[in-house]
Amino acid sequence: MPHSARVWNYWLGGKDNYPADREVGDHIRAANPMIADIAVAQRAFLVRTVRHLATHEGIDQFLDVGTGLPTADNTHEVAQRVDPTARVVYTDHDPLVLTHARALLTGSPEGATDYIDADLHDPERIIREAAGTLDLNRPIALMLLGITAHVVDDDEAYALVRRLRDPLPSGSFLVLCDDTNVIAPTEMDEMIRQWNESGENPRINRTPERIAGFFEGLEMLEPGLVSVTQWRPEPTEVGSPRPLDDFGAVARKR
Ligand SMILES: C[S@@+](CC[C@H](N)C(=O)[O-])C[C@H]1O[C@@H](n2cnc3c(N)ncnc32)[C@H](O)[C@@H]1O
Repeated sequence: MPHSARVWNYWLGGKDNYPADREVGDHIRAANPMIADIAVAQRAFLVRTVRHLATHEGIDQFLDVGTGLPTADNTHEVAQRVDPTARVVYTDHDPLVLTHARALLTGSPEGATDYIDADLHDPERIIREAAGTLDLNRPIALMLLGITAHVVDDDEAYALVRRLRDPLPSGSFLVLCDDTNVIAPTEMDEMIRQWNESGENPRINRTPERIAGFFEGLEMLEPGLVSVTQWRPEPTEVGSPRPLDDFGAVARKR
């Protein structure tokens, strides 16, 4: 069976995937050639947001839910490059992610990196187990990149994210992004149709307005909810990065 984390790894150019993952990956990419750019742009968003939080917002604890297979510039590497004492907990429900994460997601000696094999549908367990590594009395950045699309019902998805947000103290952050269908609707909707036919964990595209629902009650940092390529992009020599159908934001809990 194809698996989300491994198909994603294939689009990112990684080697941790099987023929079933590559077959679905190729099929979807034929319908939506932008998907590989979205995968790369989402990882670049992770790098810029973690670096911003560690450098400018004093965040030294990260809870990354829906980690994916380890790749270059994982959350702990970006955070510990800024602050070697940063503490990072990863969570995913894919058993292959668990095996690779145990081997590869080892952090700096001064900091801490841990991995929890848990499902987004059990937020209380994620929080309880994360508390073994993170101090829940101090601000934490909760990272949900490309995972909420797997909870297709809006109310259920909002409630799950709320149950992860609520136990975190004031001064914590939510970093969240997910697929949309406002820039290339035909390609994005066709991608979802094919994905859901593949037998994998179903996904959904949400409009930016529906993605904004995850941030209700939080204070968004500039520039707000935008295509991930346009969230504080690195300076480029010519022009500005092209918007893609993956929108995200960074927001502070008051
Ligand atoms: C599109 S990948 C994103 C990976 C990574 N966050 C990134 O931005 O590159 C989605 C990840 O979410 C994980 N995932 C999907 N549903 C999940 C669930 N219910 N509980 C935990 N992890 C889940 C998948 O296994 C996969 O690794």
